[in-house]
Amino acid sequence: MCGIVGYIGKNSVQDTLIDGLRRLEYRGYDSAGMALWSNDQFWCRRSVGPVDGLEDLVQKERVSEANTGIAHTRWATHGAPNEVNAHPHIAGNVALVHNGIIENYRSLKIQLESEGVQFQSQTDTEVFAQALNLKIERATQGGANLNTDLVLQCLQKLVEEVEGHFSVLFMVSQIPGHLFGTQQGAPLVLSKSDFGNIAASDVQAILSHSSNVCFLKDGESFVMTEDATQIFSGAELGLTEYRTETIDWNPEQLAKDGYEHYMLKEIFEQPRVVSDTLSGRLPHEKGESFVWDYSEKHEQLWKNIDRIYISACGTAYHSALVAKYYIEKWARIPVDVDLASELRYRSPVFSENTALGVISQSGETADTLAVLRMAKSQGVKTFSICNVPNSTITREVDLNYPTKAGPEIGVASTKAFTTQLTILCALALDLGRLRGKLNDLDWENGHKALAHLPISMEKVLANSESYLDVGKSLAVKRTILFVGRGLMFPIALEGALKLKEISYRHAEGYAAGELKHGPIALVDQDLAAIVLAPSDEHLPKTLSNLEEIKSRGGQIIGLGQEANREFAELCDVYIDLPNIDWSVSPILYVLPLQLISYGLADFLGCNIDKPRNLAKSVTVE
Ligand code: M6R
Repeated sequence: MCGIVGYIGKNSVQDTLIDGLRRLEYRGYDSAGMALWSNDQFWCRRSVGPVDGLEDLVQKERVSEANTGIAHTRWATHGAPNEVNAHPHIAGNVALVHNGIIENYRSLKIQLESEGVQFQSQTDTEVFAQALNLKIERATQGGANLNTDLVLQCLQKLVEEVEGHFSVLFMVSQIPGHLFGTQQGAPLVLSKSDFGNIAASDVQAILSHSSNVCFLKDGESFVMTEDATQIFSGAELGLTEYRTETIDWNPEQLAKDGYEHYMLKEIFEQPRVVSDTLSGRLPHEKGESFVWDYSEKHEQLWKNIDRIYISACGTAYHSALVAKYYIEKWARIPVDVDLASELRYRSPVFSENTALGVISQSGETADTLAVLRMAKSQGVKTFSICNVPNSTITREVDLNYPTKAGPEIGVASTKAFTTQLTILCALALDLGRLRGKLNDLDWENGHKALAHLPISMEKVLANSESYLDVGKSLAVKRTILFVGRGLMFPIALEGALKLKEISYRHAEGYAAGELKHGPIALVDQDLAAIVLAPSDEHLPKTLSNLEEIKSRGGQIIGLGQEANREFAELCDVYIDLPNIDWSVSPILYVLPLQLISYGLADFLGCNIDKPRNLAKSVTVE
């Protein structure tokens, strides 16, 4: 969603901000803009569409004397994606960019209009900018000296009136050479370097400058100059420590490495990042624990737990569904899985022996975070599976089990998903051990399968060309149905989500047993069914469902295990996958699906890394 970046320093402000915006592009956006303080006035340019448009404007008008600026990529929420609604918004002496939502913007706007303020845009952001400007004007009307303290006091008063979650960066024309900002629920990261200081909505925009960063906390504000950054907290604006943390992602991880798209690069990275995620964690002997970062906390958290809720959104929700199968089978603990956007508004029955888990690549998804906060406020023990280090979820949860996927830039989640499944598989095996419910055979098979997983994944990815071809062939189909039973049901959902989001084609994921209850009405010769059926106890039943589709003219693309001739003969196209244990089957079966979607989207010329209307990190409800 919206990305914000601000810079103050010796380098070209325009170039530094454009570079920052490019690194935030992956979040998804529809317009971009920049404001600088130059020659005693704000220089502001905005454009609809890619950052390229803004860069063209910047190249035509070089503003070399500026040392301070703010910039923004906007994902429209309030008001159409047009130039007027693009940020920055200039209100009198304030130029401001914003990420998040001002929920009570309507009532604030009505109030401001009654006081004579005129609005240019339909955005909630302009309401914030106008209100701040008005507060600053009023504070100085009585002759008070305008300085950084007064600006911070006005900001604090406004923050107390505003409802929602947001972060803002702004400049005030009477105090040049200063950058201000505040965080209330949407993250801001700060960094210092020899050539100046930078603030942004996520670390990606900062990593090329420095890996030492400071994560602002909710309720904190800051003032930045070329040489220093001061952080203030609470209503009394007490000076607070600048807390430096080092991020171990390196800037090279953010490059495409010769792949046409980040998504393709990330698909092929999966064996390595799964191996990184498992590195040092596998037990050596039967009965031993997996090695967790905080083993005492881990054992403490799971003591006496008799019910688990897991909640997430999108692809991460599909991971949660897989986790239910793992945990119920191996640890015999009942698991409820809920979409975070639903659970946060339900009245779940938590008890003192409940644990709530959230799964998130970004660690910033608004609904997922809200569920975590709801559970914490009720005293529930919480855990997360999260990829972005130091993200809000990892900072608020009781215990995070990190995935080591590295930066995932493609909007369509791939390596985050398979690393989530990997950690969940290990965690569920370990819970089975802790509770004494795991039998020796399951321990052995699960452990062995995890140890060999990266190699099995390499083997599957070696046939990438054939999956891409299958993807292309789907261009003539009206609908693509993904079906499976057991662990393959969440993978069918994930296959359909991937295909929809990057190719814009209609797809449905279904439990194979549910076909007869409705979706089979879709089947004709314009439909292709992707049938996921490893050689397990579900196979005979899934094959019967396959026959039902086939006899109605649907094309069958089967994914099954090597040497399963009976299955292969029923299919129009058959994808042979290695013989693997049940435990890792979701991780292997999703790989061809990712490439099938990619092949179709690439053939159709879609914008694969930045699909229309989508944002990488969904920080609004
Ligand atoms: O960052 P999160 O894992 O919390 O994000 C959740 C979803 O927004 C995300 O998985 C989304 O569904 C992806 N675009 C799917 O590819």
